[in-house]
Amino acid sequence: MSQQLIDAVKNKPNIVLGLSTGSSPLGTYDNIIKDHQKNGTDYSKTVTFNLDEYVGLEGSHPQSYRYFMNTSLFNHLNIPLEQTNVPQGTGDLKKVCEEYEAKVAAAGGVDLQLLGIGTNGHIGFNEPGTSFDTRTHVTNLLQETINSNAHFFQHAADVPKKAVTMGIRSIMETKKIILIAYGSKKAAVIREMVQGTITESMPASILQKHQDVTLFLDEEAASLIQTPQS
Ligand code: GLP
Repeated sequence: MSQQLIDAVKNKPNIVLGLSTGSSPLGTYDNIIKDHQKNGTDYSKTVTFNLDEYVGLEGSHPQSYRYFMNTSLFNHLNIPLEQTNVPQGTGDLKKVCEEYEAKVAAAGGVDLQLLGIGTNGHIGFNEPGTSFDTRTHVTNLLQETINSNAHFFQHAADVPKKAVTMGIRSIMETKKIILIAYGSKKAAVIREMVQGTITESMPASILQKHQDVTLFLDEEAASLIQTPQS
């Protein structure tokens, strides 16, 4: 899967990548870095847009997604940081959201989007109940998400309660999606996403309507998908 992304960059050096945080893409980011060091894959023309950021955290905060992306990927590639975009979690957030959408559009849209999935079916930080019609917006995080992400923080109470996230509509407009999920804790949500009803209470279910989605799952995450009886 990492190779698919690396090949996409080689084929189109000025590719627009959509990137995601969480533990799921970390192995991919490591592989991309190793390939860059070994084979010199060139990211000097690549543009990236991340899905989301916690409200209230500056990019210098170790738990911010900007910091995560710089330390987990960008600082190890030859991509100019000004070509990497992570929504800002501070300042005039209405303006932040509008400008982010405009910037994605000006870049020609996202060619290849990496996604993770929350145990409650969120993509980006689009929690259950989010309208399928949303663009980049400020959202309240649900307790389940706060609990799931608490291990990154010293105390659960330190996890921000709000985030800026690209919307479901923004995600559906990306040209190609690779969704990564590992482990048995994702098995139920993966089944719902693939075979359940398309409903706003399961945000990832909308991906059934996207024209080009690849799922990258381990055996545990895939274990509840029902295969047709032969
Ligand atoms: C966060 C991010 C999501 C990500 C999810 C899954 O909530 N906002 O974009 O998909 O975590 O995280 P993990 O990969 O750690 O399970």
